[in-house]
Amino acid sequence: MTTAAIRFPTADEVPESARVDASRWANRYLIGGEVREWSGESAEVRSPICHPAADGTLARAMVGRAPMLDADEANRALAAAKAAWNHGRGEWPNARPARRIGCLERFVEGMLRVREDVVRLLMWEIGKTRKDSESEFDRTVVYVRDTIDALKEQDRSAGRFVMEEGTIGQIRRSPLGVVLCMGPFNYPLNETFTTLIPAVLMGNTVVSKLPKYGALLHLPLLDAMREAFPAGVVNIVQGDGPKVIGPIMQSGDVDVLAFIGTSRVANILKKQHPRPNRLRCITGLEAKNPAIVLPDANLDVAVAECVSGALSYNGQRCTAIKLVLVHESIAGKFVSRLCDAVDALPAGMPWDPGVKLTPLVEDDKPKWMASMVEDAVNKGAMVVNTLGGKTVGTFYRPAVVYPVKPDMQLYSQEQFGPIVPVATFREDAEIDAFMRSSPYGQQVALFGSDSRRLAGLIDALVNQVSRINVNTQCRRGPDTFPFTGRKDSAEGTLSVSDALRAFSIRATVATASNEENKRIMTEIVTGRLSSFLTTDFVF
Ligand code: G3H
Repeated sequence: MTTAAIRFPTADEVPESARVDASRWANRYLIGGEVREWSGESAEVRSPICHPAADGTLARAMVGRAPMLDADEANRALAAAKAAWNHGRGEWPNARPARRIGCLERFVEGMLRVREDVVRLLMWEIGKTRKDSESEFDRTVVYVRDTIDALKEQDRSAGRFVMEEGTIGQIRRSPLGVVLCMGPFNYPLNETFTTLIPAVLMGNTVVSKLPKYGALLHLPLLDAMREAFPAGVVNIVQGDGPKVIGPIMQSGDVDVLAFIGTSRVANILKKQHPRPNRLRCITGLEAKNPAIVLPDANLDVAVAECVSGALSYNGQRCTAIKLVLVHESIAGKFVSRLCDAVDALPAGMPWDPGVKLTPLVEDDKPKWMASMVEDAVNKGAMVVNTLGGKTVGTFYRPAVVYPVKPDMQLYSQEQFGPIVPVATFREDAEIDAFMRSSPYGQQVALFGSDSRRLAGLIDALVNQVSRINVNTQCRRGPDTFPFTGRKDSAEGTLSVSDALRAFSIRATVATASNEENKRIMTEIVTGRLSSFLTTDFVF
């Protein structure tokens, strides 16, 4: 590990405790309750971790092979999900919550058996540190368990009749149909499961297309999925987006699109649906969350939170701080401390203890980072930290760029990587103006100690973003808090309990309150004649 650039290991130098043999799961996918092996076209999966050759050149390590399914196979996955849904008459959408919960609990047991494989694949496929990879896995398990508890809670309050204006009714949440789930590369496990799990638990059936980076780590889980869920309830496919997702969306048979990625791709997918009025969308898209540092901010806190907020997982988080707006009166002091803290971050391989900075997975990401920095430098900014921008293969050392101005890409475009752009402001109205002109509206972080001034900013910003963090960085968690955004940042809300609502619709059985109808309702309930109309609930 080093605080300068980075040294990539030879294959022999990789510790035993970090190695993984992905050939065990090569080319696997799940359709209709069957784990299949694809014999058609497949693609190499290359790691952001490079190995040096004898001549000093670097080559990305091979992790495994991913199946490049074709349109026919994609249609088979969709057909399996449709059959399991069966116009809402399938076994799964009609199963009682206790049955679905039992399947989910079984799945969690299977998940835990392959934890180490998934963690190692996270390190190799997307370059996430072991600590963060373990935390992604464990957080996902907790999320599944909390979702089960939230469903029990929901079920307990839904299992009663209401009497209103001479009408008796029972109102429950019911599933929506076939859900297409697509998670992102930066949280490939967690952000796939935070939509897939609530969707399935509510009785929907799912086709999940795995992300281009971060696909293999799902494959050790396929057996657990096959064992836990009835055939067709969960289908997992891989391949080239347009080839695999195009036919699925164009069929018009997707009822819900759960997509975490860019608004550009989300819009392409939505437009492919022939009856968009039928399509519900739950999306998590881009963000450009600013940190605002006021003159009276505690600089120890502000610097530490901005560094971690901007550079955890190399800045590749939708919630990352992507611009720091610091008051001009303290800008010099703040920037100097920020630079020291950024340059002190240890860089290395994901398995190195204490490592914070790691190689980047996306093709040509260092070049993309360099071009955004170049744009700013050409317009008058500078890379102000000593190590900023040092590049070795897939590794790019974080650059603090200052002073960033509105005409520079880094002021308004999402960098999604290791750059910390810093701009100054004089009047608080400039912060309001920044948010008004931004196409995004996810979160802000405010650093200061004057309650009156903070209150003014909270009121100015609260209807422009979805979460304001005071003296702390932007983040998604705790997962019981609503996670959403305004403008081009999100559609729908995902928290443990909100997700159950997002993947369901309220359905009502109502009748006029008279003796005959009361008799019928009573007989249905006491005779346990209906799965829907019941006062049963799960403890
Ligand atoms: O990429 C966006 C993630 O939802 C961020 O989650 O704030 O917990 O890192 P996080």
